[in-house]
Amino acid sequence: MLVLGIESSCDETGAAVVTGDGRVLSDVVQSQVALHAQYGGVVPELASRDHLKNVGPVVREALTRASVRLADVDAVAVTHRPGLVGALLVGVQVAKGLAWAAGKPLVGVDHLVGHLFAVFLDRGEVRELPGFPFVALLVSGGHTAIYLVDAPRADAITELGGTRDDAAGEAFDKVGKLLGLGYPGGPVVDRLAATGDPTRFPLEAPMLHTKTLEMSFSGIKTRVAQLVEAGLPSGDRAEAVADVCASFQAAVVDVLVKKTLFAAEAHGVRDVVLGGGVAANRALRSRLGEAAAARGMRAFVPPLASCTDNAAMIAYAGALRAKAGERDGWDLVATSATVLPRVTRKGRGDR
Ligand code: KG4
Ligand code: ZN
Repeated sequence: MLVLGIESSCDETGAAVVTGDGRVLSDVVQSQVALHAQYGGVVPELASRDHLKNVGPVVREALTRASVRLADVDAVAVTHRPGLVGALLVGVQVAKGLAWAAGKPLVGVDHLVGHLFAVFLDRGEVRELPGFPFVALLVSGGHTAIYLVDAPRADAITELGGTRDDAAGEAFDKVGKLLGLGYPGGPVVDRLAATGDPTRFPLEAPMLHTKTLEMSFSGIKTRVAQLVEAGLPSGDRAEAVADVCASFQAAVVDVLVKKTLFAAEAHGVRDVVLGGGVAANRALRSRLGEAAAARGMRAFVPPLASCTDNAAMIAYAGALRAKAGERDGWDLVATSATVLPRVTRKGRGDR
C-alpha cells in the first residue's frame, strides 16, 4: 500500500509518500518559521496564504522524490483536525481535489494521532519499536499531554493528563521572547541552557509534586517574566540569560519526565514514547532515556524529522485507517478540535 499524506495544520506545509508498513519514500516539509518570526508567533491568515502558495509544489515534490505518480497511490490522507481552521482547509481542499480527480479514497487524520504513531515511521535507520500498550508524551508548541496507546487506532488512545494552560513549547517560545532570543525560542533556549547554571535562579515547575498527571506551564513563564523585570545583572547578562534558560529548561524537563514515568508506572506499562516538536530538546531526550532506564522501562525517541510537524506521520496514520477499510466522504471538514477525548480541564492555573 502507498499513501500520499498532506499536512497544513499550523506553520508547516508538508507532503509525503509512505508505505502501509511505515516506510518513508519521501517527506517534504516547507517551513513558514521565517515568515512568522518577525511577528513573534504564527499569524493564522499569513499561514493559510503561504500554505496555498506552497502546497502544490510540495505535493509534486513528494511524488517526484518517491518516484510515484498520483495514479500509483492507494489513498490520500490529510490532517483535518486539530489546528488553525484556515490552514487546515488548504490541505483538506487539495486532498479532496487530488483524491476525487484520481479516484482514490480520502482519509482524514487527526494531527495528534499522527504524532502518536510517528514512532513507527521507518526512515532507513536501525531502530527498535515499542510494543502496545505504550505511554506517550506529546509535547509541542500547541499541545502537551500524556496518552495511553493500546493499539494502532485512534479509538484506542486515552488522554491521561495534559496541561491546564500553556503547551510546554509555547512556554519555551515565550521565555525566548522575554529574554530577547527571537522566535521560535525553544531551540535557542535549548542551546543556551547547555552552557548555563540551573541552580542560580532556581525555578520549579508547578504541580511537580501533585499526584496528578495534569501540568501547568503558565506560572513558570510568569516567574521568568518577573526575573527579567527585576533586571538581570548587566555585567554578565549573557551568562545570566543562559542561567535562566538552564533553570527554566531543567524545571520543565523535570515535570515532563516525572509525570510521564508516573503515568507508565500507574498503568503498568514498560514502553514510553516521545513526540512533538519539543522532543527535539536535548535535555528532555536524554533525561527521559536515563530516567526510564533507571526504572527498567524503555524510552523511544524518534528521529527529529518524525517528531516535528511532517506529513509522513499523517500518511502513516492514514494508512492505518485505510488498511482497516476506513475512508471519509467529500464532506470531510476541517475543525480546530482533536478527536481524542480531553480529560484535562483548562484554565485552572496550577492549583
Ligand atoms: O511539533 P512542532 O514542530 O509544531 C507544533 O507546535 O505543532 O513544535 C514546535 C515547538 C515550538 O514551540 C518550538 O519552540 C519547540 O517545538 N521546540 C523546542 C526545541 N525545538 C523545537 N523546544 C525546546 N527545545 C528544542 N530543542
Ligand atoms: Zn504538531
